[in-house]
Amino acid sequence: MSATSFAARETTFAQVAREAERLRGRTLLDLFAADPTRAKALTFTAPHLIADFSKQRIDAGAIAALSSLAAAADFDGYRAKLFAGEIVNTTEGRAAKHWALRGADAPAEVKDVQARMAAFAQRIRPEIDAIVHLGIGGSDLGPRLIIDALKPLRTRGLDIRFAANVDGADVADAIEGLDPKRTLLIVVSKTFTTQETLANAEFVRAWGPAHIAAATAAPEKAVAWGVKPENVFAFWDWVGGRYSLWSSVSLVCAIALRANGFERLLNGAAEMDAHFRATPFAQNLPALSAAIQAWNREALGHGSYAVIPYAERLRLLPAYMQQLEMESNGKRVSRDGEALARSACAVTWGAAGTNAQHSFFQLLHQGVGEIPVEFIVNAGPQEGPPAHRAKVYANALAQARALMVGKQSAEPHRAFPGNRASTMMAIDALTPEALGALLAFYEHRTFTQAVLAGVNPFDQFGVELGKEMAGQLLPALEGGAGPEGVDPSTAAWLKRLR
Ligand code: F6P
Repeated sequence: MSATSFAARETTFAQVAREAERLRGRTLLDLFAADPTRAKALTFTAPHLIADFSKQRIDAGAIAALSSLAAAADFDGYRAKLFAGEIVNTTEGRAAKHWALRGADAPAEVKDVQARMAAFAQRIRPEIDAIVHLGIGGSDLGPRLIIDALKPLRTRGLDIRFAANVDGADVADAIEGLDPKRTLLIVVSKTFTTQETLANAEFVRAWGPAHIAAATAAPEKAVAWGVKPENVFAFWDWVGGRYSLWSSVSLVCAIALRANGFERLLNGAAEMDAHFRATPFAQNLPALSAAIQAWNREALGHGSYAVIPYAERLRLLPAYMQQLEMESNGKRVSRDGEALARSACAVTWGAAGTNAQHSFFQLLHQGVGEIPVEFIVNAGPQEGPPAHRAKVYANALAQARALMVGKQSAEPHRAFPGNRASTMMAIDALTPEALGALLAFYEHRTFTQAVLAGVNPFDQFGVELGKEMAGQLLPALEGGAGPEGVDPSTAAWLKRLR
């Protein structure tokens, strides 16, 4: 960001902060009392998704200030650069074209790999009873979530296992009880250098699976490791790891999901792309949601927020979102390297409701600080006993209402302060299309938060130092010489764990 636009952003942030000051003194119930149209006016839609922001501490004045912030941060300009395939990942000199992996307009090289994936899926399905998918971070969380979320579309009789952790228990569990002669191993790594994935892959390869495939942006490394060239499915350096579930990283989904599940997921994401790309800020669901995230984090000072899917099939969504949001925007300098005055994202955490109600909701209702909550329900058909459906909704709606309304009591321990913010969202059904749209919504929201804060969401240098140090410490733990000059605490632990 140029010095002028940086200054413009600071000036508009002062306006946002003034709006926050004004609203801090008002309760959410006051805001509803002051405006009978509030629920309607603050409910927005996008393909497969509806979001009601009326229980957030915002009003028209706050949204106007946030729109000015978006304009000062050049939201329109950066969005155009993203979709023009410009080098938006400036620190690594790359475009970020994950959106080009989905929809009818995908480039020929993408369509070619998709066609090879589909042909491979068709050929391999009769030959296997199990798939072991090895990868970590962006090479794991997305496909794992999709496979879990779309369970009803899974090919019957196909056992699907994932392992990511370098703790050997994970990979040991992943092959337990499987027949190697009927198993496909898929090694997924953008770089094909990740320690955890390669260690797990070596182990499973030695177990003797009949088929091995790879998804990677370094196909030559996969071939050198021993995967047959025809079983290597490439993606590209313009796809960031945590944005890669739309690529060959999801080969497991292409094989395991019936009814064109993977293709439909891509189509749903493309619908959300079209919304994000063409809709002005004031009606743009991912952008507005990003502005509210920034508002809660920076204008109101809430350090974290909880994401609570009231849908068991979305139980892995918080883990996926943690990487997407915090690896993208957990930054302390702007895209030009200036120290940031404010965070680009909050801490993301959460778990599926209703289970979470019986765990950490105590803190949400009666803890000292406010933690905004994002509720997500599946408004479509549900599996299992029909009577459960109303109960899930009753619980989600009740929690949001209880957070806002609170309860007075003469006994302090039984009182609920209320006035705690939340967003209520719904997908129209748990279809591949809606899941694709939901995940693309979160990608675009993450991008917009980065634009508002002025950071590059597409690099992740923050993960490097620990990896490097692990490499330095490893020889000492394998019985070799320890590195020189480590601090006394680390040295003592090296001795203890050797
Ligand atoms: O450690 C972070 C990271 O680089 C993530 O960004 C990435 O998704 C993950 O590691 C796995 O990397 P790869 O796909 O190259 O194995």
